[in-house]
Amino acid sequence: MVDLGAISHNVAGIRQKVGSRTGVIAVVKADGYGHGAVRVAHAALAAGAESLAVAIPEEGRVLREAGIGVPILVMGLVQPEEACKAIEWGLEQTVASVELLQALDCEARRASVEARIHVKVDTGMGRIGLQPEDVVSFVRQAKQLQNVNLYGLYSHFATADERDKAFAVRQLGSFNSVVEQLRDAGLSIPMKHMANSAAVLELPDSYFDAVRPGIIIYGLYPSSEVEHTIKLKPAMSLRTRIAHVKTVGPGTPISYGRTHVTGGQAVVGTLPLGYADGYNRRLSNRAEVWVNGSRAPIVGRVCMDMCMVDLSGVPGARAGDEVELFGQHIPAEEIADTIGTINYEVVCAVGPRVPRLYIKDSEPWAGSQS
Ligand SMILES: Cc1ncc(COP(=O)(O)O)c(C=O)c1O
Repeated sequence: MVDLGAISHNVAGIRQKVGSRTGVIAVVKADGYGHGAVRVAHAALAAGAESLAVAIPEEGRVLREAGIGVPILVMGLVQPEEACKAIEWGLEQTVASVELLQALDCEARRASVEARIHVKVDTGMGRIGLQPEDVVSFVRQAKQLQNVNLYGLYSHFATADERDKAFAVRQLGSFNSVVEQLRDAGLSIPMKHMANSAAVLELPDSYFDAVRPGIIIYGLYPSSEVEHTIKLKPAMSLRTRIAHVKTVGPGTPISYGRTHVTGGQAVVGTLPLGYADGYNRRLSNRAEVWVNGSRAPIVGRVCMDMCMVDLSGVPGARAGDEVELFGQHIPAEEIADTIGTINYEVVCAVGPRVPRLYIKDSEPWAGSQS
């Protein structure tokens, strides 16, 4: 279940934190971090975001086909022969090579439009982007192309979610020095942006013209080390219903490999959800779920499509009862800690066959269809 009211609340909190003169680019890649990109995009835009960001052009296409007309930045790089996608779908493309720059110019000329681009600078993430010392000459080249509109310049933090901000501040210094070099060279770029969620929370000096938050839109903090300078509401809860309940005697093996054997008489429930739905197999015998106001442990291995819970401590548990695997009562962070990952991966992993049920103000929400 996804609470669109929580998305609105979180975006409104971001809007308030960064002020009205800073743009908010809502990051809705990976199907809105598993929440459903189209629904999240509508909710985020209604709550004060002005534009969107995705990882690959195909994600931008889905938003366009849903009728969303605001600027959409593709943050990943594409091969030069894929430049046509940004042009065809009206997307802003990230660029960090002359080859892609020229391909975008060429495709834009062919379509009699302009290609809006954002130049990415690698200030310390070590992933994609120009080295800071190469930016001025690259921008000069880009400015000479007739069909390219050099709209944005941006960078990405590697450690803004850590308590120690020393490296993040160094990255910010490097980005600032690129901005200064461009200004000194008389090369203006309207939209400079750097802040991810952690920086929105804790590094106001990195706001520039816009911020680019992802995880906080969904109501999750980027790490346990950041200050909660915006009060967030988690939007997603993974829920199911008990499919089957049985009472078994001591010594009964449960699931593949018989890794759990009941110690005494036990009430065992089966849930119709497994690792193919994004409920990680490493949660076998380790996680707890929430059912009828109590916690109950997962017993035995998580299967592809099912898993089992010991309901012996949940009086009256019956088939059909609702179970929360994570959300309000079992935080996504608890699941993440149990399997050695981060909350981002827990929500992104929820598989496509899990129906996303949308609510707003505690009511089912059917507006702004995906
Ligand atoms: C380039 C870029 N900007 C912004 C974000 C949003 O990051 P976060 O979800 O930590 O706010 C991401 C996500 O990984 C990203 O790759």
